[in-house]
Amino acid sequence: MEKFVIGGGRPLRGEVRISGAKNAAVAILPAVLLSDEPCVIENLPGISDVHTLLRTLESLGAQVRPINKTTVEIDPRHVNSFVVSKQMAEGMRASSYFLGALLGRMNKARVAPPGGCDFGVRPIDQHIKGFEALGAKMSFENGMVSGRAQRLSGCSIYLDVVSVGATINIMLAAVKASGLTVIENAAREPHIVDLANFLNSMGADIMGAGTGVIKIRGVQHLHGTNYSIIPDQIEAGTYMAAAVATGGDVLVTNVTPKHLESIIAKLVEVGADVTEYDESVRVRMDHRPKKCNVKTMPHPGFPTDMQPQIAVLLAVAEGTSIITEGVWDSRFRYVDQLTLMGADIQVDGKMAVITGVKTLHAAPVRAVDLRAGAAMVIAGLVATGTTEIEDIDHIDRGYEDIVEKFSALGAKIKRVPVFDASAALKQA
Ligand code: EPZ
Repeated sequence: MEKFVIGGGRPLRGEVRISGAKNAAVAILPAVLLSDEPCVIENLPGISDVHTLLRTLESLGAQVRPINKTTVEIDPRHVNSFVVSKQMAEGMRASSYFLGALLGRMNKARVAPPGGCDFGVRPIDQHIKGFEALGAKMSFENGMVSGRAQRLSGCSIYLDVVSVGATINIMLAAVKASGLTVIENAAREPHIVDLANFLNSMGADIMGAGTGVIKIRGVQHLHGTNYSIIPDQIEAGTYMAAAVATGGDVLVTNVTPKHLESIIAKLVEVGADVTEYDESVRVRMDHRPKKCNVKTMPHPGFPTDMQPQIAVLLAVAEGTSIITEGVWDSRFRYVDQLTLMGADIQVDGKMAVITGVKTLHAAPVRAVDLRAGAAMVIAGLVATGTTEIEDIDHIDRGYEDIVEKFSALGAKIKRVPVFDASAALKQA
């Protein structure tokens, strides 16, 4: 086990290069199962969720050959299993994408229920509704989600909630189904568009990704492809928020500025100076942030995955701000940790009222989930004193080389082993 030790109070300065998007990568890797030939995936982020998915692909019979740090070749031709075990599935949400991908490839799938960050109840009823509409018989037996079909046939599906996961899973199952599938009230996130572009590069026929109506005309075969994953909008937003919170000057490179619009709008509202270039964004801040209100929404609204990071910024802003969580039932579990560092935040259901304080102070804290962990890193960079963050495996699920990237911006941050007294006693 490891923890981060952060010496706070230094403005971030310099340049940071953003990695490939986690939430696109975790959809595209299972989607490789639909190909009849090997695929080369570029700009893969080096994060533990990607490593878990690559191991899962291998456990199904795929051959995985790393080409360099960010590129991998995957040959799915000899995949013979349709079972994803609890051990593989429980650590992450995206393991549910094997349901759609295996149904699409073999008309059968058995996958343990997905894990991932704890935001209260995380149902998959809309995924199941989509698979059933396509003709699969779904069941829950022996702690596994199973699906079987004679064949999958195109259909119209109206999603009751805008769900990224259900939209992706239905696309995966429908891409080789016979006939036309129409997903209405579909999610519009950049990673949905990236998955559609990836599948189309293999010969799929998908239109409308990025809008609320996606049309998928089934094809019989998908061929191999070379595909480069889009930059991670949330990793970019995290470094941008950190630059503003520390009063720094950072050039964030390898980004798609259009994907960052809702984040940039809020950073400008708190007083940051943001300049957009073709593939980079410069963020400067030379005074205390101003208050602002934020409501998270599905894309193109402000992303829920940036909610904890912006909360740190507002925790040290002048005045009182309100955050309303519009996607998840329970995404304020990190507030207790921030409070330990001196933040003044009152949570009432899906709303947090944040009264800005002049500064935060160091404390021992935990990463309660992935983005909460990123928020604690930003809090540590802002705070006076030395902050220690435990449970950083959550952070490693989604941030490549986070210590190296923040260090290159002038931060004092180290990864150190946690002394586990009970393990040491057992060994003695
Ligand atoms: C994806 O989760 C992301 N994960 C999450 O990012 C992100 O917070 C979320 O989308 C929203 O943008 C991945 O892409 C791997 P949803 P997902 O289905 O697909 C309800 C991160 O930090 N719902 O869009 O699980 C659900 O309860 C992670 O990178 C149903 O009711 O989210 C929620 O209120 C954390 N029934 C809302 O829809 C369903 O069948 C949106 O969930 C599915 C979802």
